[in-house]
Amino acid sequence: MPKPDASEQNVPHVPVLLAEVLEALAPLPGSHIVDGTFGAGGYSRALLEAGASVTAIDRDPNVRPFADALASEFPSRFNFVAGAFAELDQLVPGPMDGVVLDIGVSSMQLDEAERGFSFMRDGPLDMRMAGEGETAADLVNSLDESDLADLLFAYGEERKSRRIAHSIVAARAVEPIATTAELARLIEKAIGRKPGDAHPATRSFQALRIAVNDEFGQLVEGLFASERLLVEGGRLAVVTFHSLEDRIVKRFFNPDKGGPAQSRHLPQAVTEERRWHPVAKAVKPGTAETSRNARARSAILRSAHRTSVIARGVNYAGLGVPRFRGAA
Ligand SMILES: C[S@@+](CC[C@H](N)C(=O)[O-])C[C@H]1O[C@@H](n2cnc3c(N)ncnc32)[C@H](O)[C@@H]1O
Repeated sequence: MPKPDASEQNVPHVPVLLAEVLEALAPLPGSHIVDGTFGAGGYSRALLEAGASVTAIDRDPNVRPFADALASEFPSRFNFVAGAFAELDQLVPGPMDGVVLDIGVSSMQLDEAERGFSFMRDGPLDMRMAGEGETAADLVNSLDESDLADLLFAYGEERKSRRIAHSIVAARAVEPIATTAELARLIEKAIGRKPGDAHPATRSFQALRIAVNDEFGQLVEGLFASERLLVEGGRLAVVTFHSLEDRIVKRFFNPDKGGPAQSRHLPQAVTEERRWHPVAKAVKPGTAETSRNARARSAILRSAHRTSVIARGVNYAGLGVPRFRGAA
């Protein structure tokens, strides 16, 4: 197995597809880039080391010590803003030369049992990145059975969602479900576990995390906010970790893909309307990266640069955003 790079030793979260993200953003000294998902600051640090100025955003208050460390190292070129990237063009004064979004949970969030993100660690069933609003326990103990099943199916692609929802409703009639271990055990009992397969709670935990943090809504709003914020030629790089998110990013960059056929007599008209031109094809990590960082296995990077065409209004239509009936 390849040894980790020196740069990856003792870091709380190993950045995924770091070289590829840098290539996609092509940071220049003097450019200004927004890192919308700061985490432990792996991307921010690399961008700063390339000479760019960075404004970083994260909605998890626990990242503050990592941000403070970078701020003291790069006092004139780094600043941190607490908040959600859905509002990035309100949090950061534009225009900007680049935006990077590394969607999903950090290793710190997964590793801390008390955050309640992981079925591998027993803790309160929380999953809130920002520490406010409804918890995963609130959802599993309050949604009615069919909404719960729809949620697990729509956001986690869990085919056995009805059986799981039925077991949850039966269990909570006796006592509310309070911990990650209780929920994981209950799901395993409801749908069984095949040797060699992922843990049977994987998809349900993903679905609950997405719902608790409104991750699809954040992604869509963050993409359109980036469209408003970037200069012509500015670059957007987005790393996602499952096909539902990747589909949204792909369709956002290529709104005419999959739409009605265009007349071959009007190719110019289509090109002129594009807000984005691809920088590269979708990029996945190689085996060297996935063998030293299991988190990278499902990562996919898409990037594009902004054209001069005026930004669109926010529009969820055509992006394939999953919905479930009980969603607010
Ligand atoms: C995968 S980690 C990012 C890791 C980072 N690229 C690094 O190299 O350390 C994702 C981070 O984004 C944050 N996050 C997720 N969704 C967010 C949102 N909508 N707004 C702001 N931060 C968000 C999480 O709290 C987490 O710290």
